[in-house]
Amino acid sequence: MRLISHGDERGNLIALESNKNVPFEIKRVYYIYSTKEKVSRGFHAHRDLKQLLVAVSGSVDIYCEAVWGNKTIHLSCPFEALLLEGLVWREMHNFSKDAVLLVLASDYYNESDYIRSHDQFLVELRRFNDTPPQ
Ligand code: TYD
Repeated sequence: MRLISHGDERGNLIALESNKNVPFEIKRVYYIYSTKEKVSRGFHAHRDLKQLLVAVSGSVDIYCEAVWGNKTIHLSCPFEALLLEGLVWREMHNFSKDAVLLVLASDYYNESDYIRSHDQFLVELRRFNDTPPQ
């Protein structure tokens, strides 16, 4: 999604607000930076967490796998945000040297919300697919 940037002759500014342009209550913010060359990160899914990702500097590829298939999203500008919600396997690849990946999250860090095994992710995805609408 595209974020509205307040630009003027001085430059640009983007504001992120809970339940406004960020579609959840922000409980945690973290950022990934100085990622070493050829290093990839992530390789997990979350059961309940919602996240909004922004490459505030540099660029990174986010590989996503979900019920709708798979897709790689190239994040390379501060006004482009990627919303991850629902069961999504995510991997972060090709960090540029100057990449700073800002992540806003809907909950505190909680290891039990992580699915770190891809096989387990596929099991939970299948279960999710098989659940009839409530
Ligand atoms: P890790 O889950 O390996 O990061 P990635 O998903 O990018 O591969 O997290 C790296 C370390 O940071 C790990 O020890 C857990 C810790 N951590 C926190 O303490 N709080 C957080 O919000 C996050 C995301 C990680």
